[in-house]
Amino acid sequence: MAAQRLDGRACATEVEADLLGRVSALKAQNIEPHLAVIIVGDDPASHVYVNSKIKTCARLGIRSTHISLPVSEKESTLKQHIQDLNNAEDVHGILVQSPLPNHMDEEAITDLIAPEKDVDGFHPQNLGRLVQGRTNGMLPCTPSGVLRMLRWANIDLEGKRAVVVGRSRIVGMPAALLLAARGADATVTVAHSRTQELEAVCKEADILVAAVGRPDMVKPSWVKPGAVVVDVGINRVDDATRERGWRLAGDVDPGVAEVASWLSPVPGGVGPMTIAMLMENTVRAAELVHDR
Ligand code: GUN
Repeated sequence: MAAQRLDGRACATEVEADLLGRVSALKAQNIEPHLAVIIVGDDPASHVYVNSKIKTCARLGIRSTHISLPVSEKESTLKQHIQDLNNAEDVHGILVQSPLPNHMDEEAITDLIAPEKDVDGFHPQNLGRLVQGRTNGMLPCTPSGVLRMLRWANIDLEGKRAVVVGRSRIVGMPAALLLAARGADATVTVAHSRTQELEAVCKEADILVAAVGRPDMVKPSWVKPGAVVVDVGINRVDDATRERGWRLAGDVDPGVAEVASWLSPVPGGVGPMTIAMLMENTVRAAELVHDR
């Protein structure tokens, strides 16, 4: 039996419909939600993601500022931009697109963003709140998008075995924390590149979240029949049959659809949810300024 589609695009459309009302309510109070996005260098995939964020802002009536810096830019210049945006009263959200060039210290940059404007949820204060089980703050967008999509599909997590493959600061670790948090209540295993018998570990999962960045890594034989599989991977793989020479592949082999009960597609699964959660964090940051 083919898996049902965990349709991130449909879920994101519902999130956006709610946000349109919240943006209008803010504008009625003369507050225009405003997101600043900084990108350094010319990685084509990162530029696609950033353009997509800017376009979504426009669709929702959120103001955006797009700062694009050359790959050779000094780290001190990037820091100065962040300080300026921290001090700008009309800016509610700041996002620095990852990855940064090697000569820049990504953690030091994250530390510098004012926590109340950290719409990525990567600042130690926001991640620390998540570790404490306080899930009402700025949450990292991809993991919170995964949880929102699971809730949207009425997938029961309580007491279930969840396996997250990947331990990154951006996705794997916060996804594990959210799955284990009160309200979600899954029993979580974090697997990674050093995990022994990874296939067997994955096969125990009722909920399997793949976030490793390796195309088609999770095979049908790794998945328990009826499991829910969330594919966070967005990998470019060479494909001479396509005009552009590449195609997108997730971390999950498409054959998994024959084993799982639910599977998120790539594209159209986690990607649209990440952007929707970024928009929600931005609107929330603007609302909190008003409430302060
Ligand atoms: N690069 C890949 N995903 C993300 C994300 O969620 N936020 C930022 N800032 N950079 C990313």
